Amino acid sequence: MGKKRVLSGIQPSGQLHLGNYFGMMSRMIQYQENNDLFCFIANYHALTSTPEKEALSSNTFEAACDFLALGLDPKKSTFWIQSDVPEVTELTWILSNVTPMGLMDRATSYKDKTARGLSANLGLFAYPVLMAADILLFNSEVVPVGKDQKQHLEMTRDIATRINNQFGDVLVIPESDIEKTTQLVPGTDGQKMSKSYGNTIPLFDTEKKIRKKIMRIVTDTTEIDEPKDKDTPLFQLYSLFLDEKEQAELASRYDAPGLRYGDIKVELFTKMMEHFAPYREKREDLISHKEDVIDMLQYGAKKAKRVAGETISNLRKAVGLSYDA
Ligand code: ADP
Ligand code: TRP
Repeated sequence: MGKKRVLSGIQPSGQLHLGNYFGMMSRMIQYQENNDLFCFIANYHALTSTPEKEALSSNTFEAACDFLALGLDPKKSTFWIQSDVPEVTELTWILSNVTPMGLMDRATSYKDKTARGLSANLGLFAYPVLMAADILLFNSEVVPVGKDQKQHLEMTRDIATRINNQFGDVLVIPESDIEKTTQLVPGTDGQKMSKSYGNTIPLFDTEKKIRKKIMRIVTDTTEIDEPKDKDTPLFQLYSLFLDEKEQAELASRYDAPGLRYGDIKVELFTKMMEHFAPYREKREDLISHKEDVIDMLQYGAKKAKRVAGETISNLRKAVGLSYDA
């Protein structure tokens, strides 16, 4: 199989967590070895949740450091901050004009987010069109995301098809890439792990806080000598760090008498700290070398701009915005 253009982004709306890591980040980093990877920090998107300005800018920088620490290589890939390539907002506008209101009305994320108390503004409503522009601006073929983003990918395909039907084949129609085993990482309360539910285990919090969160993972009241349910958040979270053989061993411990959830939690904590230890060190180093990180991001923005410029120019011609042609 040839190299594919793989693209995804993440909102800098708080500390990145195990759901983000297994659902999207670690897969992106693996993709960079054999594909043409485009990865960005979606700070325009984060504006839709009306954050404090200091929090938005520090979360943006820290999310970039998280990715770099976890192994995203700005030389192998194209890695940038969304607002450094503002062409995406122009594409959003062009796409908006072929996007039917019926399609927007069916989007569930706006309803979910306003139901959770986010303010009902146009940015939040139009967010799937900005996401479509993120994807289409860079001729993306594959988009690795968690299950919650599936509808946005379907909307993107729909919008791109409309543009192509109306103006000729100018856009690449992307495919979503959702991995079955990691599509829905549970949070400490058993719901989907999400920054907005306060049930996350952040990748790079202090040891003490991570331990506390792991100890808080919900469990049931099955007697110690009874077989335990494996379709539960503690089992699922621990499994993410285990290979197949280790998972089978854990499963047989769940079936055997004598298993204490408290012991499993301590094991999970140790495993997680070991897994992230080298990345944690790298991250500290990046955070304390801000200028170097900024250089890497500027370099990425330049690479991204080259592709964006070409798409925008093609689109301007296709829709009739370039009156001098
Ligand atoms: P959050 O819900 O915490 O705000 P985002 O919406 O910013 O997370 O998600 C960023 C990326 O991480 C997306 O690709 C999303 O699908 C993925 N993701 C987030 N939470 C999970 C989860 N619990 N399980 C799997 N993937 C997830
Ligand atoms: N909407 C995605 C999320 O909340 C983030 C995102 C923005 C994205 N633009 C994207 C993901 C483009 C994939 C492709 O998680």
